[in-house]
Amino acid sequence: MQVVLRHVGDYIIRRCEYKDLIHVMEINMVALSEHYSEYFFEELFREFPEAFIVAEINGMIVGYIMCKVEYGFSNFKRLGFVKKGHVVSIAVLKEHRGKGLGTALMQEAINAMIARGCDEAYLEVRVSNEPAISVYENLKFIVKSRLRGYYRDGEDAYLMALDLHEQ
Ligand SMILES: CC(C)(COP(=O)(O)OP(=O)(O)OC[C@H]1O[C@@H](n2cnc3c(N)ncnc32)[C@H](O)[C@@H]1OP(=O)(O)O)[C@@H](O)C(=O)NCCC(=O)NCCS
Repeated sequence: MQVVLRHVGDYIIRRCEYKDLIHVMEINMVALSEHYSEYFFEELFREFPEAFIVAEINGMIVGYIMCKVEYGFSNFKRLGFVKKGHVVSIAVLKEHRGKGLGTALMQEAINAMIARGCDEAYLEVRVSNEPAISVYENLKFIVKSRLRGYYRDGEDAYLMALDLHEQ
């Protein structure tokens, strides 16, 4: 059954379904230089389906976000291990950017992380990726560290994090 989360203009933001995965992989191929195996997409879809979300218009998938639940050290000085929502990948097809879809996908993924009991969210982003950084900063993500040579081509990443207890 289709789970619609919200509408953004004529676009629908909804939970990803198994049949959408092929389109998600296609968007990943054209929009990002970090690609993954088919198995990896399926694994995230099985493990955290509430935070695997797509944007659709006229039956066409034009954007997605997929996340993982992890346990590890806090980015906000909490003691011990915390439960973290990791934004593994987010992308919107070029022709559909700047319409609020990236922000809506991220907001719904954050809602899913909170519902799962995550304490914090985090992600990595290329230091040169100004549009993405600005979307995350608008949602109150904070740059926590710079990861040297994080990407295969040698570019650094910012690790950005959001305290979900303050949402
Ligand atoms: C990051 C991405 C998902 C954002 O999707 P989107 O649907 O365009 O996002 P939104 O429409 O919600 O927000 C767009 C925001 O980008 C920012 N932006 C757009 N172009 C920008 C630029 N050249 N420089 C700085 N900020 C820019 C603006 O802040 C804009 O917000 P505003 O409309 O309130 O001013 C999209 O750009 C994308 O798919 N990029 C390629 C894949 C990628 O880099 N993914 C992130 C990997 S960490």
